[in-house]
Amino acid sequence: MSRKHIVAGNWKMNNTQAETTALISDLTQKEKTSNAEVIIAPTSINLYTAVSQLEGSSIQVAAQNMHQAENGAYTGEISASMLKDVGIQTVILGHSERRAYFYENDTLLAQKVNTALSHGLRIIFCFGEELDDRKNGKHFDIVESQLKNAIFHLTSDQWSQIILAYEPVWAIGTGETASPEQAQEMHAFIRKTVSESYDVTTANNVSILYGGSVKPANAKEIFSKPDVDGGLIGGAALKADDFFAIVNAF
Ligand code: PGA
Repeated sequence: MSRKHIVAGNWKMNNTQAETTALISDLTQKEKTSNAEVIIAPTSINLYTAVSQLEGSSIQVAAQNMHQAENGAYTGEISASMLKDVGIQTVILGHSERRAYFYENDTLLAQKVNTALSHGLRIIFCFGEELDDRKNGKHFDIVESQLKNAIFHLTSDQWSQIILAYEPVWAIGTGETASPEQAQEMHAFIRKTVSESYDVTTANNVSILYGGSVKPANAKEIFSKPDVDGGLIGGAALKADDFFAIVNAF
């Protein structure tokens, strides 16, 4: 089993260039006592600044999104090769805010996944059920179909470039966290689903992150679960102390 612990900070639409530089400078002064790989995802206009500032650091930089086309008439969009060109190696795809506010569906996400992989980008693929799905007992079915429709067409070799991020929509930015038991139950289900569609090795090697109101106070308990390999952190990633308390919760 070679899966990694990963803590990724999704900064969303926060931080000017000056604020980005200041937060990165705070982050680089923190001591990392865990074995977790650390990733930050600033907004696209600050990616180049972040990559430049973090040259030589072990903190990696990810993009929050990208377009599926190679280039062309897509006003306002950013391509995979543009991300690569400024030194980005990882892209977040499928975040619930992209799905909800920008109408990204499984079919579109499958295209984005293919484009990202064809450019050698690693993907943090996000998915998760809404509150009604959970109340109606449909959460396992929803998660399974999100995975099957957008990434289960990949070959098992391509899975070395995939990081999964289970983010129940009802827990994002709400202060409401899935209990460590709920997270473990879903992560184990995800791993079983990958194992059934691929094989045990692929399933054991993929890192599955939990996201949704992870904070210093609950990170240790969530990360202690056997199938939780890290976190995708929103609000708490905007403060260096909180983010590193989470990084060091492993
Ligand atoms: P949150 O966001 O930690 O603020 O709930 C998580 C995410 O959206 O990735």
